[in-house]
Amino acid sequence: MTDPQPMPEGDTAAVILAAGMGTRMRSAVPKVLHPLAGRPMIRHLIAALEELGLARIVVVVGPGMEAVAEAAAPHATALQAERLGTAHALMAAREALGEGFADVLVLFGDTPLVTPETLRRLLAARRARPRPALVVLGMRPEHPNEYGRLVTDRRGALTRIVEARDASARERRIGLCNSGAMAVDGARLFDLLVHIGNDNAKGEYYLTDLVAVARARGLRAAAIEGDAGELMGINGRADLAAAEAIVQARLRRAAMEGGASLADPQSVFLSFDTRLGRDVTVGPNVVFGPGVSVGEGATIHAFSHLAGAVVAPGAVVGPYARLRPGARIGAGTHIGNFVEIKNAEVEAGAKVNHLTYVGDARVGEGANVGAGTITCNYDGRAKHRTDIGAGAFIGSNVALVAPVSVGKDAVVGAGSVITKDVAPGALALARPEQVEVRGWAARRRPRKRAKRGRGRG
Ligand code: UD1
Ligand code: CA
Repeated sequence: MTDPQPMPEGDTAAVILAAGMGTRMRSAVPKVLHPLAGRPMIRHLIAALEELGLARIVVVVGPGMEAVAEAAAPHATALQAERLGTAHALMAAREALGEGFADVLVLFGDTPLVTPETLRRLLAARRARPRPALVVLGMRPEHPNEYGRLVTDRRGALTRIVEARDASARERRIGLCNSGAMAVDGARLFDLLVHIGNDNAKGEYYLTDLVAVARARGLRAAAIEGDAGELMGINGRADLAAAEAIVQARLRRAAMEGGASLADPQSVFLSFDTRLGRDVTVGPNVVFGPGVSVGEGATIHAFSHLAGAVVAPGAVVGPYARLRPGARIGAGTHIGNFVEIKNAEVEAGAKVNHLTYVGDARVGEGANVGAGTITCNYDGRAKHRTDIGAGAFIGSNVALVAPVSVGKDAVVGAGSVITKDVAPGALALARPEQVEVRGWAARRRPRKRAKRGRGRG
């Protein structure tokens, strides 16, 4: 059963701020494109927003960040030509956003783990009486460090946000921090934004000042709290690794709730789109890259690496198997240790059990591919296909030089280099014939002894 469709938020829009350089990442790649569980962090955030059914999503990017705009598609982007701060970035979205939204969610591209549930809670707080002009999503991280602090009055109302580097020693002791996410009255947002200045430690237009600006105009501001892990901001590589750990923990839990057994969850790495069927068993140290689906009851043994592969129900893969994009592993097949499969169909019941490379190929139903078999698919210029018919038997250490086909039920002798098609039911041998010289060893012995004798002298 799928969850009931959430109510679409028809009069709500969202702006994601993603124009920052992400200098602390020390990367040639824009920060929001760094991946978590195999997809750019900004796509995680967009996926959460899409679940809300918002009327519009705008992503603010910086100059030269076409790749971010591409990742944001089909959603609109706005260009912040100069990076003068988070308030300035939001201002840049004005035109792309348009008018008439009751609520505008503002989110940071580097805070990608926020869930749709939390965002719904944020919107609900904005709409609840006494309808504050803005609601800030706060959190209490173990180490508040560089996060902005939420300053509240004696009655607990939010009065302002102070950035860590502008805060007094006393303010720095405040545990309630700014996650950066907020829900703002759409009718007032841009009228308030223009009042934000840049008289602060960084000389930037801080979005956080929106609270004080609203309060100065007699408007209400409120804060709600969310989970600090979910709301962490990613500034450097260590943050990225910490966020990855959080995403992985979520994915592992979801996989197990879906009926898969993970022998050692901590050592299994999943992608955002990994699909594991019921009663799938996954051994320790297995990596699922993007685009993998594993059918019911299949087993993925330890140290296997899968990406872009479809594994049918009941198949057994690994240990130490590598399934690359385009691998389609049929029902009840066995893919064994040190076997690499790429862009190939292994049909039901086939066995490829040891030390083999199958690329750009079909292995027919029930066929058996012996140890050390290689489909030689690349001639240095182009890739070619190998077709192995149903029920065929390929002996050990066979090179299948593509393009080539082995007919149904044919047998290829061990050690063969197959360059021509093999007819159905035939036996193909392509290896030097064995030479036997009777009595050779005995004739050789005396000479060996003589050699040794000389050595001793
Ligand atoms: C910001 C908040 C801080 C909060 C923290 C939460 C401000 C002034 N500070 O600090 O209170 O605790 O996030 O993680 O808002 N961006 C632009 N254009 C700019 C500057 C930034 O689009 O000119 C974007 C960045 O790409 C990023 C987001 O805004 O996605 C936040 O900017 P960042 O510089 O990371 O702010 P923090 O110092 O982390
Ligand atoms: Ca940040």
